[in-house]
Amino acid sequence: MKHLINIEDLSTEEINQIYTRAQDFEKGIRKANHLNAHIVNMFFENSTRTKMSFEMAINKLNANKYDFCSETSSLNKGEDLFDTINNLSAIGMNAVVLRHSDNNLIKELSSKKYFQDISFINAGSGTNAHPTQALLDYYTIKKHFLNLSDKTITIVGDIAHSRVAMSDITLFKKFNMKIRCLSSENLIGEKIEGVEYYTNLKEAFENSDIIMALRIQKERIQEHVDIESYIKNYQITKENLPYAAFLMHPGPINKDIEIKSDVLDMPNARTILNQAKNGVYVRMAILDMLLSSQGL
Ligand code: CP
Repeated sequence: MKHLINIEDLSTEEINQIYTRAQDFEKGIRKANHLNAHIVNMFFENSTRTKMSFEMAINKLNANKYDFCSETSSLNKGEDLFDTINNLSAIGMNAVVLRHSDNNLIKELSSKKYFQDISFINAGSGTNAHPTQALLDYYTIKKHFLNLSDKTITIVGDIAHSRVAMSDITLFKKFNMKIRCLSSENLIGEKIEGVEYYTNLKEAFENSDIIMALRIQKERIQEHVDIESYIKNYQITKENLPYAAFLMHPGPINKDIEIKSDVLDMPNARTILNQAKNGVYVRMAILDMLLSSQGL
C-alpha cells in the first residue's frame, strides 16, 4: 500500500489486514515507532473526529506531526497546491493526510511522479470518498457481528451528498452485506447496483440489524431542503428505531434533525462514540502500513 485514496482500490484481504492490525493496536499487542516519519495534516474543510484521531494516531505511532493551516500559508500569496506539496516534500514530509472539497484532487496528486516519495491519505474528498471512515465503520460492525453477509444495514439521510455513504456502500458490498438506502427522492442520490432503495421508513427499518444515520449536508446543497418534512418522515425516534438495531452515525450529528436527542441516551446509540474511538486504531493501522511500506 502506497496511498489510501478510495475503498475501490482495496481488496477484502487488505481491508481485513487493516482490521487485524487495528485490533492489535487496540489490544496493545502491537506497538510502533515511526520516529523518522513526518506526516502533515492538510484539512481544507472542517473536521473534529477525523483530524483529531489522525493526530492521536500519529502521536501513538511515535511519528512526527505537522498541521498545515491554509489560512496562514503561502496559498494566500498565490502559490498553488501542487507547488505547496512539492515544497513540503522537499522539506521532508513523507505523508499527507488531505481533506478537500474537490472529488478528484487527491487522486490527481497521488498520480504525479513528482510526489513519488509521499504517501497520500484521503481524509474526505468532496462528495465521493471518505475511506478511513468506511474502514472504521467496518471495524466497528465486525467487532460485533461474526458474519456480515447475513446482516442488513439501512443508511438513512442525505445520501446524495455523503462521501461516507459512497465509501461505506463500496465497502459493505465487498462483504456481501444487504444494503438499504432510505431518504426522500431529492436526497437519495444516484442509484447503485445491488442496493435497495426506500422512501418509507417503516419498510426500510423492518429486519434491519444496523441503522446508519447521516446528517443533511447543507453546505453542499444549493436547492431548498424541507427540514420539517424530513423530520416528519425520516427522523430516528425511540418509537421507530428497531429494538435490537445498532445505531451508527459518522458525526457530526445535528440533534433533533436526523436523530431525536433522547435516542442518543439509548443503549443502541453507544456505537456512535465507539466509531469515534475506533477511528484512532484504524488510522494507526493505515499509517503504520503506509509508513512501513516506505521503510520508515
Ligand atoms: N466523520 C467525520 O468525518 O467527522 P469530522 O468531519 O468531524 O471529521
